[in-house]
Parts: sequence; structure tokens; C-alpha cells
Amino acid sequence: MTDIVALDITSWQPALTPDAQQTAIRTLEGGGVLMLPHLAFELLTDEGRFLSPQWSDGSAKNISLEGATLRGARGAPGELAALSNMIARFAASAADLVTALFPRYAPYVRRARTSFRPQPAVGRALSWRKDDSRLHIDAFPSRPNHGERILRVFCNVNPGEDRVWRVGEDFASMAKTFLPQVSRQLPGAPMLLALLRVTKGVRSDYDHLMLGLHDRAKADRDYQRNCPQQIVRFTPGTTWLCFSDLVMHAAVSGQHMLEQTIHLPVSALYDRDSAPLAILERLCGRTLLPAR
Ligand SMILES: [Fe+2]
Repeated sequence: MTDIVALDITSWQPALTPDAQQTAIRTLEGGGVLMLPHLAFELLTDEGRFLSPQWSDGSAKNISLEGATLRGARGAPGELAALSNMIARFAASAADLVTALFPRYAPYVRRARTSFRPQPAVGRALSWRKDDSRLHIDAFPSRPNHGERILRVFCNVNPGEDRVWRVGEDFASMAKTFLPQVSRQLPGAPMLLALLRVTKGVRSDYDHLMLGLHDRAKADRDYQRNCPQQIVRFTPGTTWLCFSDLVMHAAVSGQHMLEQTIHLPVSALYDRDSAPLAILERLCGRTLLPAR
């Protein structure tokens, strides 16, 4: 079962005791959720107006900021600049936090996409594959990552409503259940997908298996209902972190969340054996990345 471990941190640049540091590292890399119930992201006075779905452009699932580019939002130029500022401030805070909690990751904290989710957490899924109210690990069909980790920092900025997740069993148990259902890639298929630009780069066996596990778990209604799981409530002003490629998670409810994604090479980890790549290679008995 996924561990949920709380730390009493109140600053985005916390000074940690060695014990707290070890707890943070063990929890995160061990496939748990690190919960910081007293680390709120403070909105400026005039940023409260952004807690409304009206800022979404209606087509994108989330509003996102990548570099200086804001996507998925609509509003007057001045309003969009203020919205960008809010999201950028969260991105900087999340990077500070990760650097303080996990000093080994510091050189790799290059900021990826930051998202703001003013829409209700559930109710927009078009297909079972995109339905994030089903337990899943994150894996992306068009962006093979060859084992690179997906670290996510979330904050519930809703002043009055919990963000609610379900979390499931540990990664290895889930993988043992579904690996037998994932067939091998056809020879030549990864190259073809890359040539056709279905994927950005070549899909490795690792990416193929992660995608297969994502799909098979989401498609299995019986598993979704009956696998070991628990409800986790993130109260207003709570920040939490997890490796979303390792933690089985599902959205239950909530609205207004900020989220920062940080991509980390496996070499940045304190314990490389904890990575999904290492776990899957042990279970499969073969290497899952092409030789370099
Ligand atoms: Fe997810």
C-alpha cells in the first residue's frame, strides 16, 4: 500500500533536520506521497480572481506555463500577464522546495511545465484512457522518456474544498498483475512511430511497458474497484509531492490546484533501484532501454 507521510514544513525554502531529510527521501523514492499540510502557496490579493474556470480557454484540460508561454487560458493581456506571474511564482517556489528537500536533485531541477487547474478535477474525461479518476501511473503515449522520472509538486489553492485522491498498491505489485497482459512491441514499430511523429523520439521497451501498465490498469474495472486502495484528502493549503510514474493515483474531487512537473534522470536518485525502470527490469529479467 502507498505510504502517506506528513512533514511539518512551513517554508518553501525549509531548513531540514537530517531525520526529516531522510524521511522525505525514503518516502518519495519509496513510492509514497509526501504531504506538507502546513505549506500553503499564498495568493496575492488580486490573484483570488483566478480561482474560476472562466480563465480556461475551454479546449485545453489545464492552463499551463512553459518558459514564458502561457497556454489554455483566455483573458485580457494584463490579466493573462498577472495569471502567468502567479503560475511562475509557484514554479519558482516548487523548485526551491525540491532543491531543499532533495539536495541531490538540485542540478537537475530544470523546470518543466507548470499547470494551473481551475476546472473540477473530474468530469471531463473523453475516454477511459484519459480518465484520471481511474488509478494509474503517469505514462505519456507521445513523449517517450526512457526511464526519466516524473516528479510532481501539487498544491491545493482552493480556500474551501479538499483535493481528494485515491492511491493504490505499490508499483511492483501492480506491475506483477498487469505485465503478463502487455505484449512486446512489434519489431520496427518504435522507429515507425517516431518517423510518423506519433512519438517524439523512439519509444523504448520501458516506455512501451509503462504505457501498457497505465492502460491495462485503467481498463480493468474489477481491479479499479477491488485492488488495495485508500482515500487521501489534501485540505486547503496543503502541498504534496510524489513520483507520479511510481504512485498509483486517481483524482476523486477538488478544484483549483497548482502543479509543477520536474523531470529527473535516474542517475539523480538517491536509490536507483527504486525507479520503475529498475523494478521492471528485475521483473522482466532483461534491459528495457536500447544500448547506447
Ligand atoms: Fe496522473
